[in-house]
Amino acid sequence: MQVSVRKAVIPAAGLGTRFLPATKSIPKEMLPLVDKPIIQYGVEEIVDSGIPEVVIITGRGKSPMEDHFDRSFELEHVLRTRQKHELLAIAQHPSQLAQVSYTRQQEARGLGHAVLCAKPLVGDEPFAVLLPDDVIQAATPCIRQLLDIHDQYQASVIALMEVPKDRISAYGVVAAEDLGNGLYRITDLVEKPKMEDAPSNLAIIGRYVFTPAGTRYDAGDKLGFLQANVAFALQRPEFAGPLKEFLRTQDWGA
Ligand code: UTP
Repeated sequence: MQVSVRKAVIPAAGLGTRFLPATKSIPKEMLPLVDKPIIQYGVEEIVDSGIPEVVIITGRGKSPMEDHFDRSFELEHVLRTRQKHELLAIAQHPSQLAQVSYTRQQEARGLGHAVLCAKPLVGDEPFAVLLPDDVIQAATPCIRQLLDIHDQYQASVIALMEVPKDRISAYGVVAAEDLGNGLYRITDLVEKPKMEDAPSNLAIIGRYVFTPAGTRYDAGDKLGFLQANVAFALQRPEFAGPLKEFLRTQDWGA
């Protein structure tokens, strides 16, 4: 019997140390790409993939995320009174996206532990996991691509990305049998192997349950975050022209 995936878990309790000082008091997941917090892209990808329920793993100092996906009565009232209908819709949108619930990871004991914290809320159902700082641009949302494979094979599915050999040791890397059409049967996983020991050039990225044509940015890293901002801004009609012009006029050095 096919069991559909109704829940997605977003681990968001990490300390975000690579992004200090910004993340000292602001959750990394609330840093904006252009004008939208990173975590909202994640929730939108989940919803656009057809999953209605989101479980966010939070921790101390992460409450702005909960406020973001809740109503803001005062803000909505002010915008309504001022007849700012477009801004009102933007402000309301996060609270209307999905059924979001939260559970805490009391101590940042790593990603695996964070996902385990969702067990009481997820139960024994199949579920998706989305790491919010892996931001993926794809015509078909990455989670949707994984779900389609999951529906077909009824197996766990992990998104992979080809990585140049000299950068492979920064990733979890799979040993895999090529099934064609960008699909692999994973036979082993190695965490951060030395370049010469890497079983393939296929790295695990932050989507579990595939993205043959998706661009992924590590927005938890300062350079990746800047790249993601430029890439997402270039997708926005109001920013694309002026931003390209700005980039064109920069002095690129040598
Ligand atoms: P990262 O390793 O990218 O996040 O984890 P981090 O630990 O916050 O960042 P750095 O390395 O210190 O800069 C991927 C995702 O897993 C969550 C993070 O919030 C992030 O969304 N995570 C990580 C947890 O929920 N709990 C943890 O204990 C660790």
